[in-house]
Amino acid sequence: MRAFLLITHRASADGDFTLEDMPGSGGRVDIVVRCITSALLLSHGVRRDTVIYVLFQRGRNSPLLLEVRGAEVRYLRPDERSAGALIRHALIRGGEGLTSPGIYVWRRNLEETLSRLSEMGEITLLAEDGEDVETVDFPENVVFVLSDHLNLTEEEEEIVRKYAKKAVSVGPLSLHSDHVIAIIHNVLDRRQYS
Ligand SMILES: C[S@@+](CC[C@H](N)C(=O)[O-])C[C@H]1O[C@@H](n2cnc3c(N)ncnc32)[C@H](O)[C@@H]1O
Repeated sequence: MRAFLLITHRASADGDFTLEDMPGSGGRVDIVVRCITSALLLSHGVRRDTVIYVLFQRGRNSPLLLEVRGAEVRYLRPDERSAGALIRHALIRGGEGLTSPGIYVWRRNLEETLSRLSEMGEITLLAEDGEDVETVDFPENVVFVLSDHLNLTEEEEEIVRKYAKKAVSVGPLSLHSDHVIAIIHNVLDRRQYS
């Protein structure tokens, strides 16, 4: 199982954004959408072994954890507008649990999220100054933690490092979060399938 946890800083948990302006009205929810499609979509299909979690820390309904399971998700398409609509539907629905096939919301903060995810796999922080990914061995179940367009706050980093066994870098430059996810998949795919 591969999992990703995206920690967001400006995106609202309330789903009060327009599909025409996800970067502005959504507090960079466009990043969330791209990370979800990068984590789960193949050219013709879905990565059934992958789950992505997104932590929303702004808005009336925050903190809120969105979970999208590759093994169950339906109607997820590569275009940002339709994926944005699925996410907005999950956020505005309120409550906890299943919102549409494969998409769940939970009332959890960062500490609660990491505590549960650490039972599912080895928590690994993705950071520019981490160990080179090419030199790192990963267990079968791994949970990669990354930030959105902003760095983790000191408090967030302290919590993540309490759970993370290691910090891993995919290269010397600071990349967009969705690109980092694509690189991690590529590294693991080449080890698993070639
Ligand atoms: C756009 S970056 C965050 C902001 C960026 N650090 C800055 O200086 O503005 C998004 C996230 O992707 C991950 N990331 C970016 N580049 C990376 C790299 N080379 N290796 C590992 N993770 C990386 C980190 O988790 C980072 O917080």
